[in-house]
Amino acid sequence: DSHSSSTAGAEMRPDGLVFIGKEDDIKKSQRITAKIDGREIVVFYHEGKFHALDSRCYHEGGPLCRGEIEDIDGQACIVCPWHKFKITLETGEGLYEGINPQEPSPTPKWQSKGVKQRIHKITIDNGNVYVSPPDFSVSFDSDYYAEIYKNGGELAIAKPSH
Ligand code: FES
Repeated sequence: DSHSSSTAGAEMRPDGLVFIGKEDDIKKSQRITAKIDGREIVVFYHEGKFHALDSRCYHEGGPLCRGEIEDIDGQACIVCPWHKFKITLETGEGLYEGINPQEPSPTPKWQSKGVKQRIHKITIDNGNVYVSPPDFSVSFDSDYYAEIYKNGGELAIAKPSH
């Protein structure tokens, strides 16, 4: 077994994929946190699928790895334990409940704020789960908190430097 290290995500293959864990282990635990180049990510196994997202919530950096998964309008969402923001596991979209006051009898409907949380591409190969390195040519709101908490840093009070 070449994956004897206990630090998930510490190993990178020549093709750049980062080893996260054994497929069977993650299916059992249903979630695992890992680091890609110091960045905290969380991998969920939910209803037969793997999903990887930045672990720090795009809102204020809450730990999504400790949130509950809820079905919202047919979409599996992680609910941030800090302020209950809902983020789709599939796409990283932030959802909010809004009403259209133009409607005759306005009822709240779930709507998307767009992709807020960076998701990471999963590859399963030979019983092992890997995540692709992030593509920084596109940026997401969660990148800010991913940087702040990088390498276990607790600099959450830092102001943006840009
Ligand atoms: Fe996640 Fe506020 S930090 S909802």
